[in-house]
Amino acid sequence: MLRVWTVTELRAALQSMPRPVGLVPTMGAVHEGHLSLVKQARSDNATVVATIFVNPTQFDETQDLEHYPRPIEQDLALLESEGVDLVFTPSTDEMYHPGFMTTIHIEGPAREFEGAARPGHFDGVATVVAKLLLQSLPEVVYFGRKDAQQVAVVRRLVSDLDIPVALAVMSTIREHDGLAMSSRNVTLSEDQRRAAPALFLALSAMRDRYRSGMQNAVQLKEGCTALLTQELLFDLVDYVALVDEETFIPWGGTGSCLLVAAVRMGSVRLIDNVVLD
Ligand code: PAF
Repeated sequence: MLRVWTVTELRAALQSMPRPVGLVPTMGAVHEGHLSLVKQARSDNATVVATIFVNPTQFDETQDLEHYPRPIEQDLALLESEGVDLVFTPSTDEMYHPGFMTTIHIEGPAREFEGAARPGHFDGVATVVAKLLLQSLPEVVYFGRKDAQQVAVVRRLVSDLDIPVALAVMSTIREHDGLAMSSRNVTLSEDQRRAAPALFLALSAMRDRYRSGMQNAVQLKEGCTALLTQELLFDLVDYVALVDEETFIPWGGTGSCLLVAAVRMGSVRLIDNVVLD
């Protein structure tokens, strides 16, 4: 696996690598969720590129940015073991050189939920994803469905800016107790970690109700909120909503939709979703 730090090195390396190229963008702290994206990219493409960049512009709290896990050697070993050909690990100055002044702002799917709770977050995501796509020009880019709103935002970005890339969206990978894999899980205390699966359990319970015929959006939302409120270690149930997966507007009541939720435990924010179909 070749490691490069600059855009010039990345482009030079890619010139001699076979196409198609699959890109897996990450912020590091690589877990099974990322590796499932790499595995899919490996089976779909001749070249697999991964990026590790903890993007400061998508963090609203400096605290969160400072404490974001950065086990770089472990990350490199994991990516290499899954057959990544090229890993791009730029510095903040390489991505945002002095004088950088361009930000991509997306409305629509970026407005509510995570967008409302974390002002500027999706502008940061959209800008860095656009940069990574333009720097590496892959045929396919891979994202996990756990961050479903991010997927909707990137879909909008790629469509609106005519970026020639296909989006591959992979299923959420979960711990044995249902907790969605996330780089932030390592920051949970033991008690918080024990309580965290209650988020997925509440979502799954509503999915079961939906499948057994109870398809009223208000009742599903209320039922989910009630279950989440029972978990005393959840300090805040930030939102529970049924939305259209592509637009993130409230579900119209027909066809499949996503049940999305976010809770807060101390300084940790957990998000998850299930498909209702
Ligand atoms: O999902 C993430 O890890 C990040 O938001 C991404 C897509 C790598 C952009 O920084």
